[in-house]
Amino acid sequence: MQTIRVETPSARYEVHTGSGLIESLAPRIEKVIKKLPRRVFVLTSPQIWALWSHDFLRSFPEEPVVLFLPPGEAHKTLRSAESLLRQMIRAGGDRGSLLIAFGGGIVGDVGGFVASIFMRGISCVQVPTTILAQVDSSVGGKTGVNLPEGKNLVGAFHHPRAVFADIGVLGTLSDRELRAGLMESIKSGIIRDRALVRFMEEQADKVLARDPKALEKVIAASIRIKADVVNKDERESGLRMILNFGHTVGHAFEQATGYKALLHGEAVGWGMVAALAIARLRKTITVAQQQRLEHLIYRYGPLTALAVRPAKVLAATVGDKKNVGGVRRFVLPLGIGDAGIVEDVTVAEIQLAIDYVLERAQA
Ligand SMILES: NC(=O)c1ccc[n+]([C@@H]2O[C@H](COP(=O)([O-])OP(=O)(O)OC[C@H]3O[C@@H](n4cnc5c(N)ncnc54)[C@H](O)[C@@H]3O)[C@@H](O)[C@H]2O)c1
Repeated sequence: MQTIRVETPSARYEVHTGSGLIESLAPRIEKVIKKLPRRVFVLTSPQIWALWSHDFLRSFPEEPVVLFLPPGEAHKTLRSAESLLRQMIRAGGDRGSLLIAFGGGIVGDVGGFVASIFMRGISCVQVPTTILAQVDSSVGGKTGVNLPEGKNLVGAFHHPRAVFADIGVLGTLSDRELRAGLMESIKSGIIRDRALVRFMEEQADKVLARDPKALEKVIAASIRIKADVVNKDERESGLRMILNFGHTVGHAFEQATGYKALLHGEAVGWGMVAALAIARLRKTITVAQQQRLEHLIYRYGPLTALAVRPAKVLAATVGDKKNVGGVRRFVLPLGIGDAGIVEDVTVAEIQLAIDYVLERAQA
């Protein structure tokens, strides 16, 4: 097991990753919050509960109250949050209650948000079950729900008291989800950790075959990067933005394809290919580095093909919410293992990068 500390001005907690964590969750949580409260809520999805409830419940002296969120972004809403809050009241929840979010990023975001507003805020423990949730969404305190007008538009910063990222639960993840989640680790390596890039290159077969040691290494390294960035910039006023590498064009691909064709990680994969093309044009990376990193992204693919009009992607990119005051803000790698933020990317450069990706992603 590896333990990584998050220490920000508003929170201190540990993120644990390794095998066999969920079978011993209750005593592990009691190390953090002294004693389990009268009401412990578990928010999960029916699918995850069917697979893992037996292991999850093993260490709890009394059965927690289980709340379900059906899978999919369509349920990441204020309506779902209200329904969960009411169920918690009816089940006797109070200010001392604990909510454990046991699932992917959607369960984690909704669970964290509900915990942030129930009785003006109760403790939350994150038990992420997808790669994306383990290396990204469960760490850092961002929680929230979608509005019809856009994703993640309502939310709160509410750090968990602890995070338990169990490598074993990844065993039931679909191959597509696994590969898409690993795009976030590739992202982390490119912006912060050369050694992680090299490890993912050299050990790709083992990582993709879910070898526990190889996966733990990738996940722990990725969490360490996320935690380090959050520790230095909790509220995303500067450095934390580098975690958005690949996300500007990635989000645009998601939006332009109606959030249906691509998994988030796949969109980030294509978004990284686009950002690498701009970085090569601006000479912040060499042609050889671009080819090497693109090769790594495709190795962890296959990325879903894209059938979308370039103009639609361009419009979605230029309207990205990170473009404060109309500035086209982009995260670009500086070699391998470092990155910076540039604010003057031109429409022509973005257009070229989108065309470059679409040539490689013919449906
Ligand atoms: N808060 C943050 O900082 C942050 C960061 C990145 C992404 N996010 C959010 O995360 C969400 C995406 O999360 P995600 O990619 O984990 O998707 P997800 O939560 O939809 O999970 C993907 C699918 O995998 C299933 N699943 C989860 N764990 C499983 C397991 N162990 N075995 C089998 N099936 C399993 C889920 O039921 C679901 O169908 C988005 O809503 C995004 O906005 C939040």
